[in-house]
Amino acid sequence: MPIQRLSAQLVNQIAAGEIIERPASVLKELLENALDAGASAIQVDIEAGGKRLIRVRDDGVGMPADDLALAVQSHATSKIAALDDLDHIATLGFRGEALPSIASVASVRITTCTRDAAHGHTLLATTDAQPAPAPHPAGTSVEVRDLFHQVPARRKFLRTERTEFRHIQELVRRVALGRPEVAFRLTHNHRDIMQLAALSPDHAQQRVADLMGTAFLSASLQLDTQAAGMRLQGWLGLPTASRGQPDLQYVYLNGRMIRDRLVTQALRRAYADVLFKDRYPTYVLHLQLDPAQVDVNVHPTKHEVRFRDGGLVFDFIQRQVARALAEGGAYQGESDNAQRAGQAEPVNTPSQPMPGYANAVAPSAGTTALPLAQAQALYGVTPNPAATNRYHTESADVAASLVSEPNNAQTPRLGHAIGQIHGLFVLAQSAQGLILVDMHAAHERIVYERLKRQYAEQGVATQPLLVPIGLAVSPAEADLAEDQQALLAQLGLEVDRIGPEQLRLRALPALLASADGEAVLRDVLADLRANTASHSAGDTINTRMTTLLSTMGCHGSVRANRTLTLAEQEGLLRDMECTPNIDQCNHGRPTWVELDRRALDRLFLRGQ
Ligand SMILES: Nc1ncnc2c1ncn2[C@@H]1O[C@H](COP(=O)(O)OP(=O)(O)OP(=O)(O)O)[C@@H](O)[C@H]1O
Ligand SMILES: [Mg+2]
Repeated sequence: MPIQRLSAQLVNQIAAGEIIERPASVLKELLENALDAGASAIQVDIEAGGKRLIRVRDDGVGMPADDLALAVQSHATSKIAALDDLDHIATLGFRGEALPSIASVASVRITTCTRDAAHGHTLLATTDAQPAPAPHPAGTSVEVRDLFHQVPARRKFLRTERTEFRHIQELVRRVALGRPEVAFRLTHNHRDIMQLAALSPDHAQQRVADLMGTAFLSASLQLDTQAAGMRLQGWLGLPTASRGQPDLQYVYLNGRMIRDRLVTQALRRAYADVLFKDRYPTYVLHLQLDPAQVDVNVHPTKHEVRFRDGGLVFDFIQRQVARALAEGGAYQGESDNAQRAGQAEPVNTPSQPMPGYANAVAPSAGTTALPLAQAQALYGVTPNPAATNRYHTESADVAASLVSEPNNAQTPRLGHAIGQIHGLFVLAQSAQGLILVDMHAAHERIVYERLKRQYAEQGVATQPLLVPIGLAVSPAEADLAEDQQALLAQLGLEVDRIGPEQLRLRALPALLASADGEAVLRDVLADLRANTASHSAGDTINTRMTTLLSTMGCHGSVRANRTLTLAEQEGLLRDMECTPNIDQCNHGRPTWVELDRRALDRLFLRGQ
């Protein structure tokens, strides 16, 4: 075939291939146009899953008649004018491609009116040469009918009406979640499906409750933090709100919904310390940064972006989120606790663990997962009620807010110990109700956080063994221990190779002084091997060390069935309050739950 120029229609159809996959992708473009036009209320009417009709009405600025004719021409946009503009895009659209692409694969009618015009205009794309006068309130309606009607190849790929509508609903959720200040209404086949009122910034959380559910909201932390010219705000689901799939993760960059690898990875990393490996965190987050710092012109659908300084963005997100998670829940900050420790009867400073519960042997690994979650579901127990704790950059705010409640002023967050049951749980009375602590899980986290802190500050404190331990290992393990001798020493494990299949352990971390040294070393070696084998490029040396410290933390933990004195139980509660990430053990299981007065009343049908 000789070379020939493609018709404008075919060019647009090819462009449509990049952005229009299904009815929901048409809707995404129309919603973005409405938002760019400054709409404060948007109505979406759908028929037959969007195959028959997709109509979006907005109350935005509208278009003058001349612009209306241009809007459906390719490469016509009001949003950028010069190359420089691409460096700091503040609107959702900028390519001038969406409407002509849609018009090349469906019938498109636009009716619009500006705020100061006497009447509106209407235009049927690709058919009408000129707009005709038509009544319309200020704003714009775009009607898309019979999608892919003339493109049977694409029409074939459309799914059932129900499936296509599900995609539409999810899209509207996504968009509406990011714009609480805009009212949305969605109908399907003339039935009301979703109606959301416009909210002031102070009430934005209502939108989250409406779309993510109140359960998410009450198991989440609110975050608002800034640094290095970036701001991150939103809601972080607590580990108890994690899911088996990554379906409740919403991130907006300068108001644009994105699905970006770098951002997702940073969040995954931030949650890694408190979540089971196969669980996915939930969140609704808004990231704001100078538009000049990000390139959105990477992909036609604009879901992916490129950050000018990806490393900086990654660190910012990871650190702020990890910190918020660490400080949520029972963690009361350190200074606050020191003060409290002085008031409480038992004396127990964080650096000097009580001989009682610090002396322990490795528990059985892989305890059953989340037995408490079921109890929570059954009895409406509130797990780690951190939702009421707004997270701010200063954790002192949290402490201050607690102190300001008169009844709570004297009672520590986790209350005072009442006793121990089944050798596993500590019972305590808190200001709100009854607290149950999984001693073992809580202590595991305490030891782990102390190890991490020592490692970061002056190195893990060691204690020489009175009698060094000899270990028979495989030649591969012996090689590994020899190669990694320096790294093991950093972890507080002083090891020599004394034969082809022989190791000698000379010192242990002081925090694990009474643990089974041989078991600790064997586990760390096993971890190291697994680590080296599956060493993923993104894992920094720090993440690897953290994993190893977590493994070691398990060995320092209090053994089940050990009896703690009341003073030791009280000491455990106070230690918990000054331990970051204390709401979950090293494996992501909850360490404590609270039955508040309401839940207790419900159990006994009081007041019903
Ligand atoms: N709902 C609307 N209200 C007011 N103006 C609109 C509306 N929809 C479209 N327009 C106008 O029509 C132009 C073309 O829209 P279109 O979606 O094709 O391109 P774009 O939004 O500029 O860029 P992109 O292709 O990236 O979406 C817009 O630049 C805008 O001026
Ligand atoms: Mg657009």
